[in-house]
Amino acid sequence: MQRRTFVKASAVAAIGALAGPAPSSPADMEIELSPADPGPVISPQLYGHFIEHLGGVIYDGVWVGRGSSIPNVDGIRKQFVDDMKRIGAPNVRWPGGCFADGYHWRDGIGKAAARPRTYNYWQRSMPAGMDATETNQFGIAEFMHLCRLVGAAPYLAANVGSGTPQEFHDWVAYCNAPAGTVSLAAERAANGDLEPFGVRYWGVGNESWGCGGAMQPEEYATLYRRFVTQFPAYTAPFLVATGPRGHSADGDIGWTTGFFGAMRGSTPPNGFSVHFYTDFRPTAVKAGDFTAAEWYEVFLRGVRLEKVIEDHWREMGKFDPAHRTKLVVDEWGVWYRAGSEIAPGYILSETITLRDALHTGMTFDIFNRHADKIAMANVAQTINCIHSLFLARGADFVRTPVYHVFDMYRSHMGARLVQVKSPFPEVNVPAMAGAARLAAISASASVRDRQLTVTLTNPSLDASMPVRIRLTGGARALEARGLALTHEDMRATNTFAKPEEVKPMAHPVKVAADAIELTLPKQSVTLIDCRIA
Ligand code: AHR
Repeated sequence: MQRRTFVKASAVAAIGALAGPAPSSPADMEIELSPADPGPVISPQLYGHFIEHLGGVIYDGVWVGRGSSIPNVDGIRKQFVDDMKRIGAPNVRWPGGCFADGYHWRDGIGKAAARPRTYNYWQRSMPAGMDATETNQFGIAEFMHLCRLVGAAPYLAANVGSGTPQEFHDWVAYCNAPAGTVSLAAERAANGDLEPFGVRYWGVGNESWGCGGAMQPEEYATLYRRFVTQFPAYTAPFLVATGPRGHSADGDIGWTTGFFGAMRGSTPPNGFSVHFYTDFRPTAVKAGDFTAAEWYEVFLRGVRLEKVIEDHWREMGKFDPAHRTKLVVDEWGVWYRAGSEIAPGYILSETITLRDALHTGMTFDIFNRHADKIAMANVAQTINCIHSLFLARGADFVRTPVYHVFDMYRSHMGARLVQVKSPFPEVNVPAMAGAARLAAISASASVRDRQLTVTLTNPSLDASMPVRIRLTGGARALEARGLALTHEDMRATNTFAKPEEVKPMAHPVKVAADAIELTLPKQSVTLIDCRIA
């Protein structure tokens, strides 16, 4: 294998010798990049979204209603549409989540006033006395309208847990049958959409090992085949099978082995879903108030995603050496224990801090580095739930620090990966178990035409980090701009009252022919966009 990238050997040796719990960092860092020798395209779909009928996600978050005094486009919150467009949101997954396996799509079509009120799976998590009854005011037509306004591809999660293959196929026909063909196309037209929706991405169930049916992988494989064999092929589909609970202690490799073993001889799915939550629900770690050890712990647990991707990919390769099935990380994010909800009933909404922004940068670097394996990823969830980009309550709306990282990483979307050797040298950091080793920085790089993009995260709470990015293969740096997201307070957050507390600022970058030099602030995510020759 070509050695395109390296980290200065002396730095590795010096860091390797460090011991003890005190945070420490290398003197400097040199990264070598060869933009003339790029790897796979980083699919824009890796920067995808997820919204579910849960707490305040759809109702109030996305859908304020046509008669609302909150600025809206046909009932959809206008600020949400504008900001999703601004970050180039490539796709949106809907309607769940756990909600999907109890959702019957016919409840959400036709005249809004005539739609039934139905049970919502998340009723069980609502505060005592609060009702989560589903009004079905936001159905497939409203969802497709949102996707069109944003310019995002729809990704629908079909009901396998309590639905039938026929219900699934009817939904596909309703969405995709050309006008003037089957009766379901006429029904769609009568409901206001003459032209087919052209939905390509279909999830066949969700978490079928849990809320989607509590199945064994072999049972699910049987159902998967029944659900897809007669799939109405109006639009060539990208079918996503339910995959593992990646954040399980053992990575849930048994699900992958069981599913692909039972699928031997059958057409493999296009995508295999992996859910990976950096899951602090069983711990005392809070979303907005935390110690230095708890700061680092989020990254230590978050970067385990890389091994989960590699392990499941390897396992899938045993059954499918050509890797016809790609990974779809369709739920990811840091999930804290309850306690920081924006209002009662907005269950699973969390305070989002600078810590979550750095976690996002590290996660995107992992996705980019594995662009050959991952077809799509979806943050859980875009608004008012877990790892949100936005929090909204009535007329109040705020972009969280996570939003800014999505914005900063935009240039990677659709560019070609430039390999950055990983892992980087490790440093000692305080952690919940006492001390641990964490890579000193996280990085990824890409190139499009003559533009090189490098993203770097420095998790250190103590030290800024001088970095030299050396270009090889004859590339020369012409001009560069830097943008850094940081704050002196590790717990910094954006609130309805102070929405601009955490936001990216221009950051100095020096260009010297074959090198780009900068200093990464402590506790920061940094973007460098560089024009090269
Ligand atoms: O994102 C919240 C929930 O987490 C989803 O509904 C479910 O799929 C997962 O367990």
